[in-house]
Amino acid sequence: MLTTPQEITELEEQFQLATYKKMPLVAERGEGVWIHTSEGHRYLDLYGGHAVAGTGHCHPHVVKAIKDQSDKLLFYSNLVYSEARANAAEKLVSISPSSLTKAFFCNSGTEANENAMRMARMATGREKIITFSGGFHGRTADAISATFLGKYREIGKPNVPGHLQAEFGEIDSVRAVADDSVAAIMLEPIQSMAGVKIAPPVFYRALRELCDERGIVLIYDEVQTGVGRTGDWFFAGSSAGDGVVPDVITLAKSLGSGIPVGACLVTEKIASHIKENDLGTTFGGGMIAMAAVTGTLEAIENDHMLDNVREVESYLRVRLKEIAQVVNVRGRGFLLGLEFADNAKKVHEALLEQKIITGTSSDAKVLRLLPPLCLQKDQVDLLVEALRTII
Ligand SMILES: Cc1ncc(COP(=O)(O)O)c(C=O)c1O
Repeated sequence: MLTTPQEITELEEQFQLATYKKMPLVAERGEGVWIHTSEGHRYLDLYGGHAVAGTGHCHPHVVKAIKDQSDKLLFYSNLVYSEARANAAEKLVSISPSSLTKAFFCNSGTEANENAMRMARMATGREKIITFSGGFHGRTADAISATFLGKYREIGKPNVPGHLQAEFGEIDSVRAVADDSVAAIMLEPIQSMAGVKIAPPVFYRALRELCDERGIVLIYDEVQTGVGRTGDWFFAGSSAGDGVVPDVITLAKSLGSGIPVGACLVTEKIASHIKENDLGTTFGGGMIAMAAVTGTLEAIENDHMLDNVREVESYLRVRLKEIAQVVNVRGRGFLLGLEFADNAKKVHEALLEQKIITGTSSDAKVLRLLPPLCLQKDQVDLLVEALRTII
């Protein structure tokens, strides 16, 4: 039995491959927007464990759904029918834009994107994929090859061939490469890791028109923007994107409130090209994950979290005007990039000392906020007061 945070830290450093720069805290327990450490401190979590804790940490409705299911059956694969899977698929499709009628379940965001690209290739008989500078789509071979952000493609070498790059927000750069060998255009509708970049609504409309004109599948990677984060269930269909609905949406992160689960939502037309054994995964659609999905979506609905996101986002934007060093607030809902005049990494570290967890981005001046959708105004006040103290 490990007792001190030092012992836990040392053991983890000794036996776990050091692939992440960790924050100096041992997370023991979570409740809503709070993370409690083994030493009895509590941290305001405005990062949600990489955007995963959408419903907050350990939402009682989600925990109950997982517990109830684990008493019945932990897992059986897609070879059998299951009430948990049927309910999750129905619930997910019911909150999706109406043209997206079928769900494919997998285990992570990168896997959802791999399957989305594969489906686009199957549906079109073409191979190439256009993605954007600054976009991030995951770390498996095809997804990392589609990731034109920083060093990721380099890490993923040898890259999968047929990946083309366009400039986010610049439709002419897409037109220039969108010939009849292109199967799909895939984008993060709000580029999160790049520093929370959103394009004007006309860009999404122009992408939709281009895809329709040239028979290309439009894929929205909503791994971060989906499941309520922007104050709508999805960026797809929202006013920020001029109501545009893609042919495929990919999801993961907060979909299972922490239980690993990913999904692709597809149109009837895409689904018609997918036959038995074209896609597969052992764990995708497992009962615990499915109970977590249904529990998550119900919790968001029951607690009116979408309304909360919109209301608290407005409040946050108003309050941040008091901090002169925050020169711009980018993004939408609870996917926000606070642009500082100077280096945001220092602010991130200083906030951590004040027991507030935030995220950095690949833009050194941008601090990212990806809090649980249940964040309240008085918790925003804590952030604003801490920023005032630090700056
Ligand atoms: C937009 C986006 N797509 C895909 C992924 C990959 O998801 P995962 O880490 O679950 O494979 C991420 C992860 O950060 C992401 O932010």
